[in-house]
Amino acid sequence: MRKLAAGNWKMNGTPAALAELTALVTAHPDPACEMLICPPATLIAQAAWAARGSRLGLGGQDCHASASGAHTGDISAAMLKDAGAAYVILGHSERRADHGETDAQVQAKALAAQAAGLVPIVCVGETEAQRDAGQTLAVIGAQLDGSVPEGATAAGLVVAYEPVWAIGTGRTPTLPQIAEVHAFLRNRLAHRIGPEAAGVRLLYGGSVKPSNAAEIFAVPDVDGALVGGASLKAADFGAIVAALSAA
Ligand code: PGA
Repeated sequence: MRKLAAGNWKMNGTPAALAELTALVTAHPDPACEMLICPPATLIAQAAWAARGSRLGLGGQDCHASASGAHTGDISAAMLKDAGAAYVILGHSERRADHGETDAQVQAKALAAQAAGLVPIVCVGETEAQRDAGQTLAVIGAQLDGSVPEGATAAGLVVAYEPVWAIGTGRTPTLPQIAEVHAFLRNRLAHRIGPEAAGVRLLYGGSVKPSNAAEIFAVPDVDGALVGGASLKAADFGAIVAALSAA
């Protein structure tokens, strides 16, 4: 299994930000892990050009469940693919919160992504209130069951565990808490998709930074990271790539 360091730029970046991509691929020409940046959709094609010939992959941050049609403001999986994306983040908690995305919608989007030849990065994670109420595994299990398409393969799916309360807050779960959730995800996936589950990359996301990356990557069943804020700066994301490559 090739580990994956994925950056999520969220709604940040104009063409000036592509200088960070160039710096990243210059500093990390041949990392041992897979390296991915998901910029805003407006930048994917330019980012693909800027990263041509490098080991950096590109992804989208959302797609529509339909292949085309009357969906003003939306973007299809095939459009992302055509622009140069190989992955798409789906069901991020910000989309679940801002756009009311349900597990069923995330699953439909994941199927559309797979049909277009993209690998979906399906996000799951509990709120702080849910963790405090002891519901973490129940919430995550339901999200996983509802969001992951039937018949997903190891090569055709990535799952990201992102506790909502750890995103952009500088707070992270303890290492045993991360280990508990990732072991649970691996098991639950095995019930859902069988032996392929062993090869699905399980990313941790939420306030990953250079100073905590190595200890998080040492946790069993953590196969990479989904990184928000720290992915905007080549030096920070590069340090995370280096930590994952060494893990
Ligand atoms: P963060 O975001 O690294 O800024 O906490 C992670 C994410 O939302 O993917």
